[in-house]
Amino acid sequence: MNPQLPPMPPVMPPNPSLRRRLREGMRSTLALFQAGAFTLGGVGRHPLPVLPGSARRCAYTVREPDLIREVLVGRSAEFPKSILMDNMLRDIIGSSLFLANGETWRWRRAIVNPALQQARVTAVFERMREAGDAAVLRIGAASQAGPVRIDLEVTHFAADVIFRTIFSEPIDPRVAPRIIAAFETYQRLAYVHGLLEELHVPKVLRMGKGEKRRAAELIRSALKAPLDRRLALLRSGAPAPENDIAASLISQSDPVTGRSLNDAELLDEVAMLFLAGHETSASALAWALYLLATNPAIQERVLTEVEGKIGACAPQFGDMKKLVLTRNVFREALRLYPPVAVMPRDSVCPEQLADRKVEPGSVVFVTPWIMHRHERHWDNPNGFDPDRFEADSARTAIRQVYFPFSMGPRVCPGAAFALQEATLLLAMLVRRYRFEADDTHRPDPVARLTLRSDNGVRLRVTPRDGAASSSGRTLEACADLALR
Ligand code: HEM
Repeated sequence: MNPQLPPMPPVMPPNPSLRRRLREGMRSTLALFQAGAFTLGGVGRHPLPVLPGSARRCAYTVREPDLIREVLVGRSAEFPKSILMDNMLRDIIGSSLFLANGETWRWRRAIVNPALQQARVTAVFERMREAGDAAVLRIGAASQAGPVRIDLEVTHFAADVIFRTIFSEPIDPRVAPRIIAAFETYQRLAYVHGLLEELHVPKVLRMGKGEKRRAAELIRSALKAPLDRRLALLRSGAPAPENDIAASLISQSDPVTGRSLNDAELLDEVAMLFLAGHETSASALAWALYLLATNPAIQERVLTEVEGKIGACAPQFGDMKKLVLTRNVFREALRLYPPVAVMPRDSVCPEQLADRKVEPGSVVFVTPWIMHRHERHWDNPNGFDPDRFEADSARTAIRQVYFPFSMGPRVCPGAAFALQEATLLLAMLVRRYRFEADDTHRPDPVARLTLRSDNGVRLRVTPRDGAASSSGRTLEACADLALR
């Protein structure tokens, strides 16, 4: 492996034994792909172990831009979200929009869409900056004790941002680390249990069931408490915040049937938005900071951009569009480490994809992880190059095979939110601290529910000389910068 390139797991050798596929696959989806996945087009076919009672026969990976579009956009109803995802996430996000298909998905999206109006980039900017200020202080304090687990810190930040957007209050700083640890446990066990369920391994043989249940309960109860408080407030007729996601979810009803969410459904949607709204952003933010730490020249260019456009002033909403390189660093982190690396879809009727007949009961993988690194589409596919987003040569690849937020009817409705919070935090952090790799630590990318580093992301963080807070500049100087 080229040590200059950002970490990437080794590819699976040709004709691996079943034992090896099971062992590696139980650890991470990324380990399952062979070298050909990153060079060949068409549709890959992967026979699955035939197990007693198994409905599945094959998995397919779609590697052609037109076919990806067909599965995700043109014929998305014929390729519903896979039961695989349901098996892995049900305990924590219940029957929510993210897992739903068909009519359930339609009415849930009709309720969640207006709630996400409260997450508009203009509406949430202030909340993001407040969470960013808190993160800058936390990271500074943590850096006094040595290298910082930056993945945990940015997860706290992203959880704080979405919590404020849902409930109009910051996340309790004592509760956040417990939620983060619980989700780490949940993600590890839910992934393995989900695969074991696929393989028809009886529940009694699945280790860690209690631990997984407790992790899910901890997260759900941390969200149920503020939701119950809000419901009690509303039912008592007392004044309650009106411009947040919780308020909107409670008040909305399906325009077609008039049905509203009951209390259990409300908790499912809140848990889903909390998780979808922070786990993914946090994953990519940690990789973005790692990439900056290992590419000091680009980090310096980001610093120059931030100092030139914002200086030491408090960032404003209007500044975000000026931070072109900072945003491109995040977009490139999303390319190299797409938080949702694999999107499984079920084939429910006989299908023909290119020259492959796809039987009902198969699973079809649409994989940003493969397409974002595919040699046919990208120059220097495994290298870190944020400038590619400004280059004419990458335009076709970006249009055709760059889809970290998916596409079609199930496209992520939080993309603009995520891009803004990430650009803002990267700018706030880089102007305050220098990030350097810790030579004793190389992150190990694994994909379970999201793409994370199995051993965390640890960086050395040093305050920059003369780094000032927003009060370090006169109001006139900040106003002058804002006009540039
Ligand atoms: C970098 C950050 C993010 C990434 C990479 C990301 C990626 C994705 C992807 C790939 C999907 C589709 C998954 C599939 O179809 O299998 C998705 C769905 C979704 N995301 Fe995001 N997301 C991010 C941030 C957010 C944020 C901040 C929110 C909320 C504020 C959010 C809310 C949702 C919701 C509600 C869905 C389900 C949509 C549906 O099924 O109709 N996401 N996201």
